[in-house]
Amino acid sequence: MKKRMSFEEIDEFAKKMADYATENTVIALIGDLGTGKTTFSKTFAKAFGIKENLKSPTFNYVLEYTDGRLPLYHFDVYRMGSAEEIYEIGYEDYINNDGVALIEWANIIETELPKKYIRIEFSYIYCDECENIREIELEYIGDTKKEEEMLEYVGFSNWYINKYRDTGPLWW
Ligand SMILES: Nc1ncnc2c1ncn2[C@@H]1O[C@H](COP(=O)(O)OP(=O)(O)OP(=O)(O)O)[C@@H](O)[C@H]1O
Ligand SMILES: [Mg+2]
Repeated sequence: MKKRMSFEEIDEFAKKMADYATENTVIALIGDLGTGKTTFSKTFAKAFGIKENLKSPTFNYVLEYTDGRLPLYHFDVYRMGSAEEIYEIGYEDYINNDGVALIEWANIIETELPKKYIRIEFSYIYCDECENIREIELEYIGDTKKEEEMLEYVGFSNWYINKYRDTGPLWW
């Protein structure tokens, strides 16, 4: 399901996803530079109960936080040369560890993602006054039943698409 949201609405969405996530949830964050993956992760972490601010895991690929509702593993694999490289940092242990994994640039390791995972794609939309709006696609890969439940939980409906319809070109 796709939805257009303001930054404020994306923050609310991140908080809801933090409430929704359970043991062994893997969340793949995908989108071009600057679309909002890190901001989403920071808001998610705060709502998840983590006190410190998330730091960038760009150079070591993953940082873990243990003071939230569950352990949180925050990956950023932007600089990874190949998908297989993910195993060199103990990837399997992280994703099978009753915690929640947030993976920025998950498309780079797409072949190594588990059978079931939440996929969130952030896209720019181009129109006047759209800098603070993104199109967000939310899916539960490999589990249509869970996808339905999740979309319901986070209130993902077409309402937002309609809300911003008038601000864009006719083909919206
Ligand atoms: N939800 C949001 N609320 C406010 N500002 C936002 C939000 N999302 C993105 N931004 C703005 O866009 C900038 C880039 O966002 P962010 O760093 O989250 O993107 P990113 O997808 O992680 O980019 P990169 O791939 O380069 O790491 C932020 O510094 C902020 O100014
Ligand atoms: Mg980032």
